[in-house]
Amino acid sequence: MRRERLFSEIEGLVAGLRTIRHDLHRHPELGFAEHRTQSVVRAELERLGYRPRPSAETGLIADLHDDRPPLLAFRADLDALPIQEDLPLPYRSIHDGRAHKCGHDGHTTILLGVAAVLARMKDEIPGNIRLLFQPAEEGVRGGGARVMVEEGALVGVKEVYGLHNWPAFPEGEVRVTAGPIMAAIHRFDIVLRGKGGHGSQPQLCRDPIVAGAQLVTALQTLVSRELSHQGGAVVSVGSFQAGTTDNIIPETARLKGTIRSFEPEITARILERFRAVCRGVAEAMGVQADVDLHAGYPVLVNDPGCAQAVREVAERVVGPGRVGGAGLPIAASEDFAYFSAAVPGAYFFLGAGQPGEETPMCHHPNFDFNDRLIPLGMEMFLGLVADRLPALQARGDGP
Ligand code: NI
Repeated sequence: MRRERLFSEIEGLVAGLRTIRHDLHRHPELGFAEHRTQSVVRAELERLGYRPRPSAETGLIADLHDDRPPLLAFRADLDALPIQEDLPLPYRSIHDGRAHKCGHDGHTTILLGVAAVLARMKDEIPGNIRLLFQPAEEGVRGGGARVMVEEGALVGVKEVYGLHNWPAFPEGEVRVTAGPIMAAIHRFDIVLRGKGGHGSQPQLCRDPIVAGAQLVTALQTLVSRELSHQGGAVVSVGSFQAGTTDNIIPETARLKGTIRSFEPEITARILERFRAVCRGVAEAMGVQADVDLHAGYPVLVNDPGCAQAVREVAERVVGPGRVGGAGLPIAASEDFAYFSAAVPGAYFFLGAGQPGEETPMCHHPNFDFNDRLIPLGMEMFLGLVADRLPALQARGDGP
């Protein structure tokens, strides 16, 4: 399998792939409801000679060689977001309140492009490569990656790789780092129960609004006073709801928010102090705090060897000056974490930012996937095939 050949195949596929990307964009579907997306991907894989099988309800797994154990796996996410599309695109979302605003339409297209190149070169590629089309990354109804891992998607796989477009990094750059690269997430939902009454008679009430205001402020000290100068966590209150009008002290106030962290010790420390601060502020203010704290996706940890493999491929593809770990880790979370917790793996970012302008970020209503990343993403994954497959075979991990 020659590297030049891999890359020469890409150019002829790009126009067709762009058409697929725009079709996926027009028909966005939310997590575990990617029925049309699944059938489009399945049809394309079957056209290429694969025999894809469903996984995690609306996901798919396709093996280059069905009869051999998988060595390398690549993952794309399929789902869109519950957000309105405002852009006047020719391929604008046909669904009100649903749109591909994270670029998963592009990630899926990149992996279909990889599937096409691998299919053409199947006879020259002795090892089995597994393609994972994962539903429900956005976690609207829980994540798809954990389900795929539980269903055995990685059994036998030696290394797994995934990517994400990222408008905050300049187009043409690849960002990767060893160790934690995306955060663990905890969501909290706090109900403060006081005693309501007339706004003119606070002495007869226990005011949950004042307690809530104190709690919002006190929670800011979790990062600023509990952690060292290096920090390592984010605590944000995203919702504070209480009361109905000007002259009533309400019975309850409700605060919701998110905690992001990267290291187990810091996570444990923040969560312990979070509970203590909620208890303490509630007690001081004479209200009751019902604290619901639950874990979302775990921290996404890159294997050092796999991260180095990504770096080496990227240095060839975009040049050594355009590869690095600046800006990482990112405090967003990502359920690729379940894949890279199960087997060694690495997740990396393709910059998508335009020079001299602020490119709309993922999840922004004006975001759209940058189609120039399609060949770049393919080169990255195919470069990993070229580098890692011979290395894994030389290690005796496969045929
Ligand atoms: Ni995303």
